[in-house]
Amino acid sequence: MEQKKDKIIILSNVVASSASLQAKYGGIIPEQAAREQIKSIIPVIETALNASRLTLNDINAIAVAYGPGLIGSLLVGVETAKTLAYVWNKPLIPVNHLIGHFYANWISHPPNFPCIGLLVSGGHTDLILFTDHGKYKYLGGTRDDAAGECFDKCARLLGLSYPGGPEISKLAQKGKDTYQLPRPMINDGWDFSFSGLKTAVANLINTPEVKKSDYTSGVKGNLAASIQAAIVDVLVTKTIKAAKKYKVKQIILGGGVAANQELARKLKVQSEKLKVKLHIPPVNLCTDNAAMIAAAAFFIKPAKDPLKLQADPSLALKS
Ligand code: KG4
Ligand code: ZN
Repeated sequence: MEQKKDKIIILSNVVASSASLQAKYGGIIPEQAAREQIKSIIPVIETALNASRLTLNDINAIAVAYGPGLIGSLLVGVETAKTLAYVWNKPLIPVNHLIGHFYANWISHPPNFPCIGLLVSGGHTDLILFTDHGKYKYLGGTRDDAAGECFDKCARLLGLSYPGGPEISKLAQKGKDTYQLPRPMINDGWDFSFSGLKTAVANLINTPEVKKSDYTSGVKGNLAASIQAAIVDVLVTKTIKAAKKYKVKQIILGGGVAANQELARKLKVQSEKLKVKLHIPPVNLCTDNAAMIAAAAFFIKPAKDPLKLQADPSLALKS
């Protein structure tokens, strides 16, 4: 990454994914993911350096996501970054993975403060009020399943592959929001809850009407559209309500579910009504990537004692 005036430019952004393994096993197996990461981390760093046409001398600092997340994966990243920072004699910048997701927005068109941030990933659904770099107030988050987890679990109930979010949204294009699914906690504070929605879907597909259909005549598409509509409705309603309450003029999104086109469409309509600017990263920067971590690092101080940095699987959002 490179910073020119107030713009952040990607020089290279290499992603190693075990998507084929995840599809085969229906999700991430933590130990297996960490083993794959050990194999790929050095080749990925080499590829990124080559693609950027930089040499070691051009690198100012090394940024690393140190939590929250799966401990095995975090350890591979943190220990590699510490080692490289030590042998290359570079500062080490620790980045909260969740904050990193929001900084994908600073790469193309940097937002202005204050703004409401909605983080929607496989493990998180969080609503945050940002007043400056490093200054934010946590408004609420999921009490059980995250939005992405709800997409993934509902997709599994429908016999779709992992990750389920893109599968449901593809199928939803062929259907209509016809089933009355619950919108949990839609008018209730800033927290979220999606596990009841998943249970409602499990019950719905076991009703004689749906079972008898054997998913023919567009039933599967209608189920997908109804699931997507329920999740999107909750996310949009609460985000817009927060923007109104805190009188912000900008909304920023982050996380894999921010790649959902229906979420983008509905949020755009509502934010235009409110004259609020909506920032959603390009699809490849919504899901996990290194560029967002490097972008966040431009606004974070380096670690005082890099060799003492520890991976923290349950790292909280703190200001
Ligand atoms: O942020 P992310 O790449 O990984 C972490 O969880 O940190 O998010 C992955 C999640 C998965 O649950 C996946 O189903 C969801 O993002 N996702 C989507 C879409 N693309 C990815 N959900 C809905 N619609 C999409 N187009
Ligand atoms: Zn993530």
